[in-house]
Amino acid sequence: MKILFAASEAAPFVKTGGLADVAQGLPTYLAKNKDVDIRVIIPYYKSIKDKNDKNIKFLTSFGVNLGWRRLHVGIFEAVYKKVKYYFIDNEYYFNRDSCYGFYDDGERFAYFSKAILESLMHIDFIPDVIHLNDWQTALVPAFLKAHYGGMISFHQIKTLFTIHNIEYQGKVSNEFLGDVLGFGEEMRGVMSYEDCINFMKSAIVLADKVSTVSETYSYEIRYSFFSHGLSEILKQYEYKICGITNGIDTDLFNPNKDKNLIVNYKAGEIEKKEENKRFLQEKLGLPQKSEVPVISMISRLVSHKGLDLVEYICDEILSMDLQLVVLGTGDKRYENLFKFLQSKYPDKMSANIEFNSALASWIYAGSDMFLMPSKSEPCGLSQLIAMRYGTVPVVRETGGLNDTVKPINVLTGEGSGFTFKAYNAHDMLGAIKRSVDYYYDKEKYIKTFTNIMKINSSWKEPSKKYINVYKEIMQY
Ligand code: GLC
Repeated sequence: MKILFAASEAAPFVKTGGLADVAQGLPTYLAKNKDVDIRVIIPYYKSIKDKNDKNIKFLTSFGVNLGWRRLHVGIFEAVYKKVKYYFIDNEYYFNRDSCYGFYDDGERFAYFSKAILESLMHIDFIPDVIHLNDWQTALVPAFLKAHYGGMISFHQIKTLFTIHNIEYQGKVSNEFLGDVLGFGEEMRGVMSYEDCINFMKSAIVLADKVSTVSETYSYEIRYSFFSHGLSEILKQYEYKICGITNGIDTDLFNPNKDKNLIVNYKAGEIEKKEENKRFLQEKLGLPQKSEVPVISMISRLVSHKGLDLVEYICDEILSMDLQLVVLGTGDKRYENLFKFLQSKYPDKMSANIEFNSALASWIYAGSDMFLMPSKSEPCGLSQLIAMRYGTVPVVRETGGLNDTVKPINVLTGEGSGFTFKAYNAHDMLGAIKRSVDYYYDKEKYIKTFTNIMKINSSWKEPSKKYINVYKEIMQY
């Protein structure tokens, strides 16, 4: 089967969030199956060009219509880990200092979606399925229907639309329909929602199937608490929604191979993990106490990651005998909060307001517990990485956190982490306290440390499920 995976970012070329990891990990795994010819298509951003990667080569160029505009499309290509990547080049739209955040993002990604379809004839690849991801590629089904319906070779192309985060939908004003998309009034009903043009809504209506990045999230988004306004549409189309929980690249996230670590370790090797803990404490200027639990957070510092809960009870957390390590950037409110806490509790708190992948490895390896109290979490990758490094997650039961972390039974030691249900600061504190008590129950704690490192969180199972979905929609 021929699959084109379209996304607005893919590691290692460009990454701002978890989508980029999925756009690398899933295609790489699918490519191991000899029946699958999978290729990835992303924009050719300035940041990719600036790296001057000699493997990225020019393939072809042509023009595309977007409403009344005639626009240039350049196609570059590269092969990475046996997967072919295409890069869509347009200096006007993509030669900018960041991937997103511009006044014309709607137009930029409308262009990208149209260019994806137009390029199929030029790259000589008519896929069975175009796998679309998030709002930036959500216009593909609409263009396919409105502008490519007359092309016989496109008739059999099916679309799967994956929602990584429903918060960002691609909303633009009503004039966009004719002016930018070049659609007639007959498309307005499909494209508009609550008095604007909504890219994601159109994909939910028009794609052959819609998936989310965890099973729980696929149900949650049918409720208004999670849906950012789209619950009614999702309920209407629930027959085509499914959830497939993400995997991670277990070769990349492997404490036994991670070059950043001072000592590599496997499941069961608790002394080596403790060496990583001492190293982390030393690097961060925290007292090197092996008996004190280190709880970490690696996250974007924004409120839906549950930071308002942490803020609410930070003094209660830090009055306990533990060390709290935070890594990430985000809202000033939280950056300042953690810096302030570090000055107030210098022996207990380490605030690292930065991106730093070596430090991230040290933290995953050197901490005992990993806190992720998200308000909503479509999947979440950090809890999977933490478990891979034998660090016990403390999470709220939502989205992918609910699907990947099984509550620990403190009597038997079964399960993989500590969880709480209600979005409530003291429920979170309760889970933290339970994890700290458990930490002192050394025998059981070591059993959990050993077990969670053995959980298979690779793309093996998810990729089988994607193949089944591709097969299903190819029959429509
Ligand atoms: C988004 C979601 C995150 C998910 C990632 C990859 O960033 O917020 O939960 O893990 O996409 O699907």
